[in-house]
Amino acid sequence: MTSTSPNALAPANGSGIDAALARVRGEFPALARRHGNQEYSYLDGPGGTQVPRATIAAMTGYLERSNANHEGAFATSEESDARLAEAHAGAADFLNAGGPDEVAFGQNMTTLTFAVSRAIGRMLKAGDEIVVTRLDHDANVAPWLALQEERGVTVRWVGIRDDCSLDFRDLERSLGPRTRIVAVGLASNAVGTINPVGRIVEMAHAVGAWTYIDAVHAGPHMPIDVSALDTDFLVCSPYKFFGPHLGLLYGKPERLDQVASYKVRPAPDTGSGKWETGTLPGEALAGLIGTFDYLAWIGREFGGADDAAPRRTALAAAMRAIRVTERGLALHALTALQGVPGLTLRGIVDPERLDERVPTFAFTLAGRTPHEVAAALGERGIATWDGDYYAFELIRALGLAESGGMVRVGFVHYNEPREIDRLVDALRDIAGPTAAGSPPRS
Ligand SMILES: Cc1ncc(COP(=O)(O)O)c(C=O)c1O
Repeated sequence: MTSTSPNALAPANGSGIDAALARVRGEFPALARRHGNQEYSYLDGPGGTQVPRATIAAMTGYLERSNANHEGAFATSEESDARLAEAHAGAADFLNAGGPDEVAFGQNMTTLTFAVSRAIGRMLKAGDEIVVTRLDHDANVAPWLALQEERGVTVRWVGIRDDCSLDFRDLERSLGPRTRIVAVGLASNAVGTINPVGRIVEMAHAVGAWTYIDAVHAGPHMPIDVSALDTDFLVCSPYKFFGPHLGLLYGKPERLDQVASYKVRPAPDTGSGKWETGTLPGEALAGLIGTFDYLAWIGREFGGADDAAPRRTALAAAMRAIRVTERGLALHALTALQGVPGLTLRGIVDPERLDERVPTFAFTLAGRTPHEVAAALGERGIATWDGDYYAFELIRALGLAESGGMVRVGFVHYNEPREIDRLVDALRDIAGPTAAGSPPRS
């Protein structure tokens, strides 16, 4: 099937699965998994997504044919280096960066963020200020808090409003002439809020501060354009957007050069190489090229990019098509979840505000702890999460830390509407007949 409709992935109706979605799902071997005689539902996307065949084939191919260390004067090393270069070029295309030297790979986002924050810390002095938020994953908070202790910098907090969006009055109050870094997330891994980071970058730059954007949760859901955002740094994690376990750092060329990384002496002094400590996992980078091939296929097949379009154009088209498709899932999930007796959903619940969220939902269920709910769903072959998922400050700000946090379910483009119905049926069953009358646990 060939289609140029931007929402071609979206099933025509809420039930069943149309041909386009069947083709997409067919690319993911893991989706064929069964749970006894039932289906298996991966609603744990926020924790990590499944990978397409192209990724698996590229990883295997690398290990079978070009497994070698960097910069050797022999064929397999040259082939391996070509794959590494291609992965950088693909990542630059995915993020719309200026070029491959503006992106660096690492073990994961957390490790990269500690490396960058430590290195930036060497340039800071007592009295300098860093702004962090209570909506962020702790990986974009704890590394900056460490500088408070080590360098005497002052950390300023941006709180949240009732709908789990950032409090801009707080942000305005927090920014000033001493602000050096504003660390903020693009989308919340707990409640799905999308932050207006373009506006935040402008506000930060207006006071001369650098921005460090955590785009890990945005990765599978929406286009990320570092050039349009004009951010100084941005991090994400390929294993959250249909790739292998890796972290990915973008930095403006002048920032990557200006900040002195912790590195071995023979490693490059400029560009991405100075941030990539030790030997890269070649098979994972090769696998990521497969992920970009898959996404480019989505862009061409369903996103309106023509066959001759450059990869960058195809990737952007793919992420736009995915975003449109996910709106349908978000609306369906929002309506269905709100109909479950005793279920309290946090975050943006207004269906008119789908532009401000991705389809990641966190909730409590009256009369059951979040862990009991997640375990009961797990028994039914539905993978979800419970606790704080390292959205450490948010769960505390909501007063839910003592009661076990919240259940989190996340949908990505390969999820089917009927998985939402299956989830909701299971939740009604788990809630039991008394749920409607029980007080919410929060
Ligand atoms: C929003 C967000 N930021 C950061 C991280 C940490 O990413 P990594 O596992 O690559 O260190 C996660 C992981 O769940 C996340 O969801």
